[in-house]
Amino acid sequence: MKIWMIRLKCFAPALIWLCWICPTTAQQNKPAALPPMGWNSWNHFRDKVDDASVRAQAEAMVSSGMRDAGYTYINIDDTWEGERDAKGNIQTNSKFPDMKALADFVHNKGLKLGIYSSPGAKTCAKYEGSLGHEMQDAQTYAAWGIDYLKYDLCGLNAVMKAAPTPEAAHQIMIDAYIKMRDALRSTGRPIVYSLCQYGVDAVWEWGASVGGNLWRTTGDISDKYARMAEIGFGQAGLGRFAGPGHWNDPDMLEVGNGKLTLGENRVHFSMWAMLAAPLLAGNDLPNMSPDVKAILTNKDVIAIDQDKLGHEGTRVYSDGEVDVWTRHLVGGAMAIAVVNAGPDRVSTHPFHLDLAKLGLHGAQQSTDLWTGKDMQLTDNIPLEIPSHDILLVRLASPK
Ligand code: GAL
Repeated sequence: MKIWMIRLKCFAPALIWLCWICPTTAQQNKPAALPPMGWNSWNHFRDKVDDASVRAQAEAMVSSGMRDAGYTYINIDDTWEGERDAKGNIQTNSKFPDMKALADFVHNKGLKLGIYSSPGAKTCAKYEGSLGHEMQDAQTYAAWGIDYLKYDLCGLNAVMKAAPTPEAAHQIMIDAYIKMRDALRSTGRPIVYSLCQYGVDAVWEWGASVGGNLWRTTGDISDKYARMAEIGFGQAGLGRFAGPGHWNDPDMLEVGNGKLTLGENRVHFSMWAMLAAPLLAGNDLPNMSPDVKAILTNKDVIAIDQDKLGHEGTRVYSDGEVDVWTRHLVGGAMAIAVVNAGPDRVSTHPFHLDLAKLGLHGAQQSTDLWTGKDMQLTDNIPLEIPSHDILLVRLASPK
């Protein structure tokens, strides 16, 4: 006993030190343990984003209940960049008079601030990129209090095209992403690293190895149902590359944008949850309708997205215009999504859910996550799902 006490005394300082650095190190190495949730300026504001609109989004994120529902990041996309100063430090342009003050404002609301750059000389919108200034930019971001970087290949495309072989082009891209990863890490600040290169060279196979916490798997989404659906239903099979700390990113949400109907918004949000996708709202939060707010803050659907197992869902089968997806959840639970993707109403094409195809045997108790009601699923149960709408259920104990 005495010897143990002495040993404990000797190791105590080391233990205290370890306990002190462990959470920090773990956080630094593993930001985005769950798919990041927040808001990004691009889908709604494009180049019109400015300090005032970002502050308004942060305020609305709190007052709408979105922060309490799990949304954390307020991400400024392209067009914030100004010129570099004489020492090469990146400056903001006149739309963002003081990025540090903006970060403080966002942090004081219990939120985090994200920013955007490119490994090329110019961004997609032809603003200043980070090429040749990676370390300097990472230091600047950290000094401002930035918590998230979306790094968009765009400006490097021309350099890659000039490479002698596809392998050389690929290496240019890998090196560029590693360079910024190392620069971000050297700041000692946990900064989520979001790769944006539209899925080039099957990024899901190597995104995590260059430090990506998430990587875009596709080109840009739009606020049209067809494009959203093309992206959402096109993700099947990528799940094995994703998991805690490294996620497939089918692009930011268009929920509440364009002419998407409520059913289409439900399809969009449900599918992103099934895909364990980052949930980055892209609408104008202060001006969203109560219906859109209800979709974005549906806690049961968010819980599917944020399930700690981090196991992305996939399509199990399709029958005509109807798609059936499942996602395995922590504790043996399961989510099932049945989507009527086609333009015709399902009543003209009766759909019967084949539970055996989902590995289920006999009647199942479930909760409909959009109505909140209990629902018993029996084998071959006929389902009436309107066109461009979805049934999303959770089974606590699938059999
Ligand atoms: C695109 C990117 C969009 C947005 C835009 C900004 O390349 O996919 O999400 O960031 O650049 O210019």
